[in-house]
Formats: sequence, C-alpha cells, structure tokens
Amino acid sequence: MSRDSFDAVEVIVAKRDGHRLSDAQIDWVIDAYTRGDVAEEQMSALTMAILLNGMDRAEIARWTAAMIASGERMSFAHLSRPTADKHSTGGVGDKITLPLAPLVAVFGVAVPQLSGRGLGHTGGTLDKLESIPGWRAALTNDEMMRQLEDVGAVICQAGSGLAPADRKLYALRDVTGTVEAIPLIASSIMSKKIAEGTGALVLDVKVGSGAFMKDLDRAAELARTMVELGTDAGVSTVALLTDMDVPLGLTAGNALEVRESVEVLAGGGPADVVELTVALAREMLAAAGKPDVDVEAALQDGRAMDAWRAMITAQGGDPDAELPVANETEQVVAESDGVLTTLDAYAVGIAAWRLGAGRARKEDPVQAGAGVEIHARPGDTVRAGQPLLTLHTDTPERFGRAREALASGVVVGAPGTTVTRRPLVIDRIG
Ligand code: URA
Repeated sequence: MSRDSFDAVEVIVAKRDGHRLSDAQIDWVIDAYTRGDVAEEQMSALTMAILLNGMDRAEIARWTAAMIASGERMSFAHLSRPTADKHSTGGVGDKITLPLAPLVAVFGVAVPQLSGRGLGHTGGTLDKLESIPGWRAALTNDEMMRQLEDVGAVICQAGSGLAPADRKLYALRDVTGTVEAIPLIASSIMSKKIAEGTGALVLDVKVGSGAFMKDLDRAAELARTMVELGTDAGVSTVALLTDMDVPLGLTAGNALEVRESVEVLAGGGPADVVELTVALAREMLAAAGKPDVDVEAALQDGRAMDAWRAMITAQGGDPDAELPVANETEQVVAESDGVLTTLDAYAVGIAAWRLGAGRARKEDPVQAGAGVEIHARPGDTVRAGQPLLTLHTDTPERFGRAREALASGVVVGAPGTTVTRRPLVIDRIG
C-alpha cells in the first residue's frame, strides 16, 4: 500500500476497535500529522485510542521508527571514543546528570547529554546549569562534536531537528490527557535517544510520588518497553528502576542543585546522590564496554572534578564563579519532638516550583537561587522547633503557597517510630 492511501478516520477507527495498526498505517499517520495533513483533533482521538487499547511490541517499534524518520539522525561513529547516554524519566532533586556526565568521561567514554528545560514540578538539567555564570546551553552540532572529542562530556540543548513529530505529539498529549500511555511515553523518549545516535543508553526510570510513574508495575512495564526498543534499534540499553518517594539528595532548585553536584564531584555530597551517580556510571561504562573501572576513585581523587571544570568552561561557564543565592529564606520547623516519617517528593517538588525554581509555561523564566534545602530525612529523630527545610526565593510572596504544598508532605510521627524505605535502586531491567 502506498503512503497516501489511508484516511485518518480509518486509522482511528482501527485502533478504537482494538485492532493493531499496520506498518504502512503508522508510517502514514506520523508523516501526515507532522506535515499538518492529519488534524490535531484526529491525532488526539488516535492517541486516546492508543491509551485505551495499547499497542503491541511491533507497533511500538514501528511508531518509534516513524518518529525518528520525521527528523535528522545524528551519528557519533567518527568519534575516537565510544558513547553512552543516560535518560531519567524525571524526579525531584534529580541532579544526577551533572556529576554523572563528567564522571563517565574520565574513563574515555563520551557522554552526549541532550537535555531539556523543566516544566512542572521536576527540574530541568539546562535550567540548573544556566545558574552558572556564562554557561550556555545552545551549541551547534560541530561545537558539540568537538567538545565530545576534547572533553568527553557535553550537556546541551537538544536541537529542533531530532524527532520533530514527537515535539508536536508531546504538546498535544500534554493537553489531551494522553501523556500516560506507555507506548507513547516509550516511543517519545526512545525516538529522541535513538535519533541522537548514542551507542549505549542507561535509563533511570523513577517510581514514586515525585515521579511520572507512581506505580512499580507500570514503571517496570515502561522500562521493559524502552529497553526492548533500544535493543531492537542496536543501542545497548539497560534500565534501573529507582525510588522517587523522597527527593534525591538535600536540595531541589537550580543553583542549590549545582552546589550539591559540585560537592559530589569533590568526593562528598549526600549518600543517595553518590550511590545513584555511581550505579548509573557503572551501568553506562559497562554498556560502553568498560565494565572493570573504579568509579568511586575518580570522585575521590579529583579526576571527575577536573572533567566537570573542563565541561563547564568549554560551554562558556566559570566553574569558580559564585552561584546565585535567593534574596529571601524562611524555615519550616518541626512542630513536635518525634521522628520525621514523611518527606514527600511531590510536595517538595511543588514547593520548589512555587518558590520560582520551575516554570508554569514554557516561556516563563526561572529563578536561579529558588528552591528547597532539606535538613532532615525520613527516619531522623527531630526536636520541636528544629529546622526541617529552608525555603529560598527572590519573591517572598511565594512562601505561603510553597508552605501550603508542604502541609501534608512533611510529617513528624511519634518519638521512636520506625521508618522503612525501599532501596534506592529497586530493580534492573536489561
Ligand atoms: N518524556 C518524554 O520525552 N516523553 C514523554 O512522553 C514523557 C516524558
């Protein structure tokens, strides 16, 4: 069948009635939608039918391939080093890319980390790095390739040429209640990663209140689907399922998270941030053919810090510059003696966002210094009046709404209460 032999209603009805879509139908509908020949309302009906009736493995693979074909494909084949990339499905305090990319680069594996800005309660990697004076996110492909060859790590804005079908489709899904369909999430993420041309990919699929996926079974299904897509496309792919009920580390907010990342690169930092950075680095290095290297040593002896400094400098940033701090702070204190039983990642994410660390609309600016600093973790014994959190913002009228977000998300239980948490790395798929 030729590409122009379908009409959109026929494709919608097929999926509405629970049938699988043919390769030709998928190729046609993605191409016609990207060109504007399938209307937004028709694509929204089709995505809803996909959400309700699902797609099988072959359909998802074809849908992904069609989205890749909508734009350019990059290639790192000419680099002298193997490449490995990481993608996180997003969480609160998730600054792992910042220490991870230079750490992996230390071992001769190039890390092309094409990232985005934050929308909603999870922060964006580019927003965090933009709090470093002078640092710039937009690089040409040539600049990116040169930096990968010279420094080994680059974190920059994804060009608009990668999977343009996804950009259009994602914006539509966002306003039609169809973001949550696993076939659509998996194909959206993997089309961009496969088009980017990385040789190896490690997925950090977050599970919990602060994540996209609240439920372990669905997160595992998403992880499996993405690993299959990557593997079938010749990308060495594994996924870790990691906990996101509690924020990662002790900060959520742009400059606050950069400061904490630098602590990790200096051999310190919160234990959970170090644990996840090391676990993901090991996976990336193993997937890129370097399984037996001492990752922790590179954090302790300054090699990862040197790579960080080179990476920031190459993009115009000053790694020695003072980071911005917010004009105003307020503390959230324990109201009674006891044990901190809950520090809900979603609540902290919303609070940081309301303080100005995130944006409500794509075009909004973010405040570099805004966010939440965490002083106690679940399981810690606390005394009445002890600071649990410090809220940072340039605009103090935001404190009230941030406190509202935290009202039921920070709970002090009776003295002696035991708190059990699942492990940070819950499972590995691949
Ligand atoms: N991130 C993406 O890039 N796409 C999705 O569909 C969801 C999260």
